[in-house]
Amino acid sequence: MNDLAGKHIVLGLSGGIACYKAAELCRALIKEGATVQVVMTEAAEQFITPVTMQALSNRPVYGSQWDAREPNNMPHINLSREADAILIAPCSADFMAKLLHGRADDLLSLMCLARPLTGGGSGNDKAVPLLIAPAMNREMWAHPATQRNMAQLTLDGTTILGVGTGDQACGETGDGRMLEPAELLQDIIAFFQPKVLAGQHVLVTAGPTYEAIDPVRGITNLSSGKMGFAIARAAHEAGASVTLVAGPVHLPTPRGVARINVKSAQNMLEAVVGCAQVANIFVATAAVADWRVANSSDHKIKKDGSGAVPALQFVENPDILASVAQSPRAQSGELFCVGFAAESQDLLANAQAKRLRKGVPLLVGNIGPDTFGQDNNALLLVDAQGTQDFPRASKLALSRKLIANIACRMRATGQFSS
Ligand code: C5P
Repeated sequence: MNDLAGKHIVLGLSGGIACYKAAELCRALIKEGATVQVVMTEAAEQFITPVTMQALSNRPVYGSQWDAREPNNMPHINLSREADAILIAPCSADFMAKLLHGRADDLLSLMCLARPLTGGGSGNDKAVPLLIAPAMNREMWAHPATQRNMAQLTLDGTTILGVGTGDQACGETGDGRMLEPAELLQDIIAFFQPKVLAGQHVLVTAGPTYEAIDPVRGITNLSSGKMGFAIARAAHEAGASVTLVAGPVHLPTPRGVARINVKSAQNMLEAVVGCAQVANIFVATAAVADWRVANSSDHKIKKDGSGAVPALQFVENPDILASVAQSPRAQSGELFCVGFAAESQDLLANAQAKRLRKGVPLLVGNIGPDTFGQDNNALLLVDAQGTQDFPRASKLALSRKLIANIACRMRATGQFSS
């Protein structure tokens, strides 16, 4: 993907051992299409050299506010005006304190203070957001001064990307590690996505279900969960709080998404019914097993050598989507339900029929064999008015389009909760 194409990011490094992760972050940002201008404090240069960062960013690194390479000798103005965002990773406790007080005694802090907070001023036409990835020892992180600074920086409009937990370079264990480059990358990509679902709660089901035959065997299907996970990620990027009810799949949980792991259709139903009380949008992408074994065994079923096969009996599973779509919240318009249909042929007719059968305002059709396990898909949206094609693209790109489409529908019908 090229999720940061056209974005110019100032990557600021302050002093901390996590500077070594900034090298990888720089690469990741560029791989995603961004251009990166690195600015380092003197303390950062104790941990990693400007040579490394110049080689990775393919641009000279700036460190001094007196840098004569700028014709007007104002690197703090020039570099901040061309940025789409300033990302400080790592941001030390000391640098946070500096930002809080509006101090400006080195190029990086000077740039942060000089950056436009609102667009439309003379000489520039856009605000330059500031994001920070704190990195410090756990005691420094937990200190009331740091926590107070963080709260005030948030009020001042800084986006704080949080910290990781685990082993620290000092040998202690706790909160305060800088987030991993891959996590920071996801966060910055999310930051640039339009917040069309701000304040909404989205519930997504994803993956297959697993219906036990006995304690070691079961019935499942080929659903990879990728479409549902991409929808959960896109909803989070759009500003929603997201609950993802996932069948057994080995996919990483998208950043910021609350995941509930389930196995069987009945487990999934229980999890969904609880969450559907508070959600505003329900997107059912899970490939729920139609039947479960009625006479599943508590112990492993054994071959007895006679050639006899187990006499399995089946019972139909509850239809999770249809039952949620019948709930008073869905019927009153408080909960917008979206179904998926994986078909092998006659996509339009099958999707239209399924939409009516499930009782949902929007049904999304796709061709099962063309999507299961893949990173790409093509979608057909079917509603009461007609259809809309989303041509083949990555599941994440399609999910972002679908989320924007759902937000549009809800805005048009006044279904957004305030
Ligand atoms: O009937 P079919 O399985 O094709 O319907 C697909 C849609 O219904 C998907 O949105 C799927 O998540 C949902 N579904 C469900 N519970 C079931 C079966 C399907 O929520 N038992």
